[in-house]
Amino acid sequence: MKKRVFSGIQPTGNIHIGNYLSAIKHWVASQPEYDNIFCIVDLHAITVPQDPKVLKAKSLELAALLFAAGIDPQQSVLFVQSHISAHSELAWILNCFIPMGWMQRMTQFKEKAGTQREQVSVGLFDYPALMAADILLYNTDEVPVGEDQKQHVELARDVAQRFNSLYGETFVVPRAVIPPSGARIMGLDDPTSKMSKSETNAGHAINLLDSPDEIRSKVMRATTDSLREIRFDENRPGVNNLLTIYEHFSGLSQSEIEAKFDGKGYADLKRELAEVIVEGLRPLQSRYRELTADPTHLNSLLSEGVSKIRPIAEKTLRLVQDRVGLG
Ligand code: TYM
Repeated sequence: MKKRVFSGIQPTGNIHIGNYLSAIKHWVASQPEYDNIFCIVDLHAITVPQDPKVLKAKSLELAALLFAAGIDPQQSVLFVQSHISAHSELAWILNCFIPMGWMQRMTQFKEKAGTQREQVSVGLFDYPALMAADILLYNTDEVPVGEDQKQHVELARDVAQRFNSLYGETFVVPRAVIPPSGARIMGLDDPTSKMSKSETNAGHAINLLDSPDEIRSKVMRATTDSLREIRFDENRPGVNNLLTIYEHFSGLSQSEIEAKFDGKGYADLKRELAEVIVEGLRPLQSRYRELTADPTHLNSLLSEGVSKIRPIAEKTLRLVQDRVGLG
């Protein structure tokens, strides 16, 4: 029996190379070894205001991007979260088993809410409960995510264990799998903050659908420092971030990269980096154009996925309802 992998991604903003290098690329590479379910989490997206038409379009665009990146419908199910109502239903039940204190410790809420704590939605605060429901519905063993989602996966573990100890074995207890490198790609304009879909500064993120010229111009403007030497060093976040991105797109080792740029300047690094990104994204972008040319096919891939996994979600939900005395 293959282990079950579940992961999710929000259909908001533009999908960037941080999402790609820490999550999507790993999902694609490990597909043959696992039983995979990948989810476009539109219910998470509405924790902040969304334009309804844009949200729908973005969900489909993201599906096309993920298939274009190599998610293979023969090996993996890709689906849209709101198409299976069990996610919302289980989230409500889990809400009733998650202490406020656990939720209040979630650092991402603190970052996202910032000074607007009293104005943001309850959904934004409660978002990890829905994420726990996503994971637990499918008897998930492993959750491949970037570093920023680790705390949420741990909350899913904690609530699974709490529920199991109260009602007997019900949930598989999942674990987060974080890639050793690339788990945290930083903004090009500000390498001390993570690359984020919601950041609107034009030079912040390289998006998977950026044109070659956009990529070149963003990379050339990236923040570095006033030193010269080109080497991996976490204390020099700008250069370190560029080198990490280079490492992923070139497939070279860190020592090979340092040797390659020995004696060269930041402008050389940036020029080479822009070209490996442009070439790295080219096949994905051309498959994306093919897929979006046929939305009927795209929609049918998504609905085939849903029908394969809905029974798993409904079975878990029924078991949980039964344990709690509902239904
Ligand atoms: P989301 O949509 O913010 O991000 C999708 C994936 O990309 C990773 N990521 C990054 N990795 C490295 N550097 C960055 N700058 C960066 N930005 C984002 C995230 O860690 C994630 O793996 N709540 C989740 C989606 C979700 C989910 C789930 C994930 C909902 N349900 C169940 C796993 C399992 C989120 O908002 O991801």
